[in-house]
Amino acid sequence: MRTVGIIGLGYVGLPLAVAFAREGCEVIGVDTDARKIEAIAAGDSYIEDVSSEALREVAERLNATTRYARLAKADAVLICVPTPLSPNREPDLGPLLESTRALAEVLQAEQLVVLESTTYPGTTRERVAPLLEESGLAAGRDFNLAFSPERVDPGRTDFTLRNTPKVIGGLTAACAERAEALYGLVCDELVRVSSPEAAELTKLLENIFRSVNIALVNELAMLTDRMGIDVWEVIEAAATKPYGFMRFEPGPGMGGHCLPVDPFYLTWRAREFDIATEFIELAGKVNQQMPYHCVAKVQRALNDAGHSLKGARVGVIGVAYKPGVGDLRESPALKIITLLKGAGAEVSYHDPHVPVLSELSLSARPLDELLADSDLVLIVTAHPGVDHAQIAKRSRLVVDLRGVTRAQAADNVVRL
Ligand SMILES: NC(=O)c1ccc[n+]([C@@H]2O[C@H](COP(=O)([O-])OP(=O)(O)OC[C@H]3O[C@@H](n4cnc5c(N)ncnc54)[C@H](O)[C@@H]3O)[C@@H](O)[C@H]2O)c1
Repeated sequence: MRTVGIIGLGYVGLPLAVAFAREGCEVIGVDTDARKIEAIAAGDSYIEDVSSEALREVAERLNATTRYARLAKADAVLICVPTPLSPNREPDLGPLLESTRALAEVLQAEQLVVLESTTYPGTTRERVAPLLEESGLAAGRDFNLAFSPERVDPGRTDFTLRNTPKVIGGLTAACAERAEALYGLVCDELVRVSSPEAAELTKLLENIFRSVNIALVNELAMLTDRMGIDVWEVIEAAATKPYGFMRFEPGPGMGGHCLPVDPFYLTWRAREFDIATEFIELAGKVNQQMPYHCVAKVQRALNDAGHSLKGARVGVIGVAYKPGVGDLRESPALKIITLLKGAGAEVSYHDPHVPVLSELSLSARPLDELLADSDLVLIVTAHPGVDHAQIAKRSRLVVDLRGVTRAQAADNVVRL
């Protein structure tokens, strides 16, 4: 039986912990957040993708703690801590370096360490390895070290850890083999690349690809708005091409922990090589404009109906950054609500996944009440299970930023 340690029990770490425990591994989860440790001990999940039932089923094999010392008996330790940006948009490796230092104090010969957190190429070799080597053990000789990016898409059920190929880059061939043997327990397909750097950049390419393509359709949406062309109709028609086109949809801007953050890890690193990653910067700039464009659209819709934004009652539907989850990190809804309030609108919201928006001092309202009370309903995030067609029918005026009312030709609906 293997013992797997997991550092950081958030959106990435907790599902991994449950997956390994399900395969019969002993899992030691370490997190600095004592509330998470208590919740796991009580069998109460705080991550949508992990049910409390699933947590309870593996309770015997999943032990969560704040103490790193427990990791000494693990065969492998996976690092899944946050990798955010600093206020001036540079990589903030604080949590990663702190957790690596703490791990170094208890590191044992023959252990395998895998970094899963998204980061710039070179982090595993240049930042993680030297810190772990302060233990007196040599990376690639006394212990194995690899990078394997997490590809989880919270809220998604068709692609899971099991059926999403997992990319692995080891410091040495032996490191990669150890990592493959471990991940083979929970993933059906493994993709080995030649180095940790290649694996680190693979993850960034995936996210940058999305960011750039979303920016492209967002820019198109701003243009079609002026031209009086329906951007959704154009995307739908283009998507009928059986090759050479991939569908991306415009929206209120990018949210979540990944897309607004990860690309700038590469931008920062690229500067060292005298390369300005202009596509990445441009995509970030266009996507950042979207909340402003959306608010202008709301203002125009109200104006056309003879109202001003100041004093208007705007009911926002969906505030999480993506459908099916309650995650608010970098959600464009937060920016949109702030802008609307700043312009004097009275904003309330409905979101089945977000009962309270504490940073904006708002609580979710029942849908019926919100519809009855709003001069304009603004669909920002389209959660599954919410009947947007009905919302459009029952509202005076709707601005749909997600194209979910496309099937309806109605005078009261304005789309992005
Ligand atoms: N959320 C996603 O969809 C997703 C997808 C792919 C990759 N990633 C990447 O995975 C990494 C983790 O992301 P997440 O969404 O799981 O973050 P998260 O904030 O949900 O979880 C991280 C956890 O690490 C803990 N932590 C912070 N510092 C610690 C320390 N020094 N020691 C122990 N625990 C510590 C936090 O308390 C938290 O519980 C990031 O690099 C992220 O970019 C995230």
